[in-house]
Amino acid sequence: MAVNMRGKSLISINDLSHEEIYQIFELSASLKMKQLSGESHRLLEGKTLGMIFSKPSTRTRVSFEVGIYQLGGIGMYFGPNDLQLKRSESIQDTAKVLSRYLNGIMIRTFDHQDVVDLSKYGSIPVINGLTDLLHPCQVLTDLFTILEKKQKLRGLKLAYVGDGNNMAHSLLHGCSKVGMNISVASPEGYKPQRKIVDNALANAKLMGSKVEILENPAEAVKDADIVYTDVWASMGQESESEKRKKLFKNYQVNPDLVKNAKEDYLFMHCLPAHRGDEVADEVADSVNSVIFDEAENRLHVQKAIMALLM
Ligand code: CP
Ligand code: NVA
Repeated sequence: MAVNMRGKSLISINDLSHEEIYQIFELSASLKMKQLSGESHRLLEGKTLGMIFSKPSTRTRVSFEVGIYQLGGIGMYFGPNDLQLKRSESIQDTAKVLSRYLNGIMIRTFDHQDVVDLSKYGSIPVINGLTDLLHPCQVLTDLFTILEKKQKLRGLKLAYVGDGNNMAHSLLHGCSKVGMNISVASPEGYKPQRKIVDNALANAKLMGSKVEILENPAEAVKDADIVYTDVWASMGQESESEKRKKLFKNYQVNPDLVKNAKEDYLFMHCLPAHRGDEVADEVADSVNSVIFDEAENRLHVQKAIMALLM
């Protein structure tokens, strides 16, 4: 049965029900088919999406902008210096004003609380396009991509190797929500936040799946169906790059490490990748790698999200 998501915001996968997640996947698959066969799917004719970016972006910016256009609407891009937010107009006032003009907002920024507040004080759906804490649109796309490739989610094992960052957090939420087992391997001091791990443990308990937080990458990757990694220094942490390169040097996803995974494992990365750091070319360009299908699917999944919420 269809669940009504109209008017809701998408801030964290942890806020979504199982039904809502699968509804997003079903619409994504149908919109993907329509787009690839050239069938019209202008579900948001005349609607406007505001896109606020306080950080750079290739995939998120382009896929949201192309996506809203293909749905019959328009996207308005606001860069770091474009809004009065930059000159300390409050999030509350910004939310109230933008709600009078737009039908939805996608925001990529640093502080997760800003996204929560934008949604709280505004009256239109807010879509989280990445914060320091979470990256839900990416992980919904990742799960959709796994479903396409493996025809199921429940019971699969995903190993995440690297920094316990926004990607690790949303993967913990996403995998545990759909009953996938997740093993995260990060060095001491760079593990995912306790609160997120607790969310995942609670979800996994309901689904009968497993959540492991480890230190040893080979142990995490053992018999994995999916091996996932992300940059060692996220946007905003550039000054720590050199320090992190040393700390994370044993966390590279390379041919030696993936020997521990299942033979038909998928390699995934949200991109952008720092090849030679968190992933070796031999893995990123291998037959197991689905990184470009994953990037393409951002378009289809986000179109479904916009169509359902807006
Ligand atoms: N994966 C992702 O969000 O990429 P961008 O930073 O290019 O948007
Ligand atoms: N963890 C990365 C993800 C980029 C899509 C960052 O926040 O920069």
